[in-house]
Amino acid sequence: MSSSRSNAGAGVLAFLTVAALLSPAVVSQTCKQLESIVTSSVETALRQEIALAAGLLRIYFHDCFPNGCDASVYLKGSGTEQAMGPNLTLQPRALQLVEDIRAKVHAACGATVSCADISALATRAAVVFSGGPTYDVPTGVLDGLAPAPESLVSVLPGPTTSSVSALKKVFGKKGLRDLADLVALSGAHTIGRAGCGFFRDRAAAGDAFGDRLAANCSRNPKLLQNLDVVTQDLFDNGYYKALVDDQGVFTSDMALVRDAGAAKIVRQFADSKDDFYEQFATSMAKLAAAPRPGGNVGEIRCSCFSRNPTNTKAIQTDVVDVAGDEGFTASA
Ligand SMILES: *[C@@H]1O[C@H](CO)[C@@H](O)[C@H](O)[C@H]1NC(C)=O
Ligand SMILES: *[C@@H]1O[C@H](CO)[C@@H](O)[C@H](O)[C@H]1NC(C)=O
Repeated sequence: MSSSRSNAGAGVLAFLTVAALLSPAVVSQTCKQLESIVTSSVETALRQEIALAAGLLRIYFHDCFPNGCDASVYLKGSGTEQAMGPNLTLQPRALQLVEDIRAKVHAACGATVSCADISALATRAAVVFSGGPTYDVPTGVLDGLAPAPESLVSVLPGPTTSSVSALKKVFGKKGLRDLADLVALSGAHTIGRAGCGFFRDRAAAGDAFGDRLAANCSRNPKLLQNLDVVTQDLFDNGYYKALVDDQGVFTSDMALVRDAGAAKIVRQFADSKDDFYEQFATSMAKLAAAPRPGGNVGEIRCSCFSRNPTNTKAIQTDVVDVAGDEGFTASA
């Protein structure tokens, strides 16, 4: 359906391969050990440091939002997304975990699986390990060839955003058009933490919870505040229960209970973990299909942190299936 659009990028860089998404079945046949390597690596890492789960989720959002889930956020160096403003404490150890998993997968299967796929699978494994729901992850996504431009990276919604309509607009442009998408994906904060600099505005709001945040931060400016004050490391609906009690740590969290429509969904998720899980799975599938303007064009990186050397022959992937590509034009 969309191969003509994808061809535009390939014309400029002749050594690249244009490919549509491979079906999950094809990738798992190419590398049968893929899921078990990802799952066991994530579980081992999270047993040592549970905060990596939130780190993986944040990296995944930051990757998908600007330019589609193309692992462009993993590229290091000047002019990369990691060097841009809204990179909000991307955890270096979570970035490294994905690169370590890539090395293991490539050692077992050759360079047949992209960093984009590994990042998506590792994020899901972290959600599941933290007690959350499983959901479908499309594979066969190629790694992007360049960082997203700053103009797109700057659309990442910040923690001080106070208007649901502003948040909704940003999410809508990424194919996340339902208010429930915004509310469910904010639920990733169920395992998140943040430094005081990210909620100074909330801490100054003048209510009892804000006063406690401010007092904690003045005692220890380096503190990492749990974003779910009910059940910090569990991927459950504690975040929504806290919100119902006006205990949201970010201004953008509080915005959800200040808006009548969003508040209704917050209360629904506070009452039903299953409703949250179901919507989270739906919204993660939409996030995975966030617009990638150039289509699924790229390579399978031999290090998640850098482009393959230009003299390396790009991995040839067969055009098998364009499943999952439909959203791209519709969402732009
Ligand atoms: C995030 O960006 C800021 C500048 O905007 C930079 O100082 C910081 O090192 C970046 N963080 C990471 C993890 O690269
Ligand atoms: C403040 O610090 C106390 C004691 O460490 C902690 O229990 C609480 O969760 C922190 N944050 C808030 C908002 O009270």
